[in-house]
Amino acid sequence: MANSDKDRVVIFDTTLRDGEQSPGASLTHREKLEIARHLALLNVDVIEAGFPIASQGDFKAVQEIAASVKGPTIAGLARCVKADIDRCAEAVAPAAKPRIHLFLATSAIHRQFKLKKARNEIRKQAVEFIRYAAKLCPDIEFSPEDASRTEPDFLAEIVEAAIDAGARTVNIPDTVGYSVPNEFGAVIARLYETVPNIAAATISVHCHNDLGLAVANSLAAVQNGARAVECTINGLGERAGNAALEEIVMILRTRPDQFGSLTTGIRTERLFRTSHLVSRLTGLSVQRNKAIVGANAFAHESGVHQDGILKQRETYEIMTPQDIGADGTELVLGKHSGRHAFSHHLAKMGIRLKPDEINAAYERFTELADKKKFIYDDDLLILAQEQMIETSPVYTLDYFHVSTGSTAVPTATVRIRKGREVTQDAACGDGPVDAVLKTIERIVGANGKLLDYAIQAVTVGKDALGEVALRVAFDEETVSSKAASTDIVEASAKAYISCVNRHVRNQVSKPARRRAKKR
Ligand code: KIV
Ligand code: ZN
Repeated sequence: MANSDKDRVVIFDTTLRDGEQSPGASLTHREKLEIARHLALLNVDVIEAGFPIASQGDFKAVQEIAASVKGPTIAGLARCVKADIDRCAEAVAPAAKPRIHLFLATSAIHRQFKLKKARNEIRKQAVEFIRYAAKLCPDIEFSPEDASRTEPDFLAEIVEAAIDAGARTVNIPDTVGYSVPNEFGAVIARLYETVPNIAAATISVHCHNDLGLAVANSLAAVQNGARAVECTINGLGERAGNAALEEIVMILRTRPDQFGSLTTGIRTERLFRTSHLVSRLTGLSVQRNKAIVGANAFAHESGVHQDGILKQRETYEIMTPQDIGADGTELVLGKHSGRHAFSHHLAKMGIRLKPDEINAAYERFTELADKKKFIYDDDLLILAQEQMIETSPVYTLDYFHVSTGSTAVPTATVRIRKGREVTQDAACGDGPVDAVLKTIERIVGANGKLLDYAIQAVTVGKDALGEVALRVAFDEETVSSKAASTDIVEASAKAYISCVNRHVRNQVSKPARRRAKKR
């Protein structure tokens, strides 16, 4: 193995790059930094922080993460072209351990229809730009895109050439999630048999979940010699997503009988809160029955199971909630807790806010504590997240009033602020939420199609914060967001305004992003 001990499986997190390509997920600069900080606390080995050529915003996020997040290697993605590599090298340069991750498609279908290049041209381009990138950055990774559908002899040839040209890591992507485990494991085994210089690089894998096999394929690859896995928190990523980091890590840890002494460096007790943070900031909810981090992952409903657990935990539980840091909603603060206790507790949760953000969050905390008897960790996470979601939102909710009832026509009055401008309007709807959303649209001049509306209580109790998660399509773009309040109509209004803000922000950065973003 080149840059990893033979028993160590390198965890390469691509939540901020492939994960951010999830339909509807888009993160602000501040949110990306916060996620990167939490990935470092989780102790991932590599953070792929973005695709610097894609937009000025991506470039800045990668650069600031490289400058400020300590511990992991910070990687940026680049196509095998000079402009991408130069931009990427500049973005990752401030990192103590920078990496350029180059990709170029190698399968026949991509060569013929997308790139219109022959095998020898692809090999030549890969070699030329790996060599070029290696002069700018000591750590180069190369991905033959759509590797799993590439002819085995050509894949072996390109892997050998990439290692010779200076790639320290060669990543084998199942780009379209087409492989099945024994087949994908065999791809890796064959590379070990046929590529003479393979020991000079770390073999990594990057599996998509189109057939629900991303985790299984990644682990089959590990069983056949791969020693790095590219994955994302909550399995986010293009289309059906990537392999879920939390599943890879917990499978390796829970089944040493199958994986021997293979380990990761992940602090598993931080998995649950990292999953929560990513879900809140991307606005993409985790399904309740999701393995490891879903709300039901440790909930035993059947009486027989509960009885078994009480007698001997292992009868029905193969991991503990403590293993992943999901050991209950901790009761933390109340009405009389001071600003110091508040900020101390946020720091203990790993949340870092600037002094003015702490003040704003504390103000919201005191308002909430007036309405709600007990404040839990999850409530605090929401207050903190409200400070990160939009550093300078275009629109903010100033006031709303709804009148509704079983015999009345639901009517809303809403006042929205945009800079110094305040606009008020009113509209009727099918229900109070519909009336409020229609009024918001009249004011901001948007016409969104509500694709998803989900509501759930953040913690326990009738006075719990209600969290509304929305997915809205504006023309060709889909955005998601969440907001919480003890009043669910207010939460709906705030979530909708947040979607509008995300859409407006994306419109500004879209032209450059569209040009460069990978499919
Ligand atoms: O899915 C894919 O092939 C990728 C590469 C850039 C690694 O995301
Ligand atoms: Zn991918």
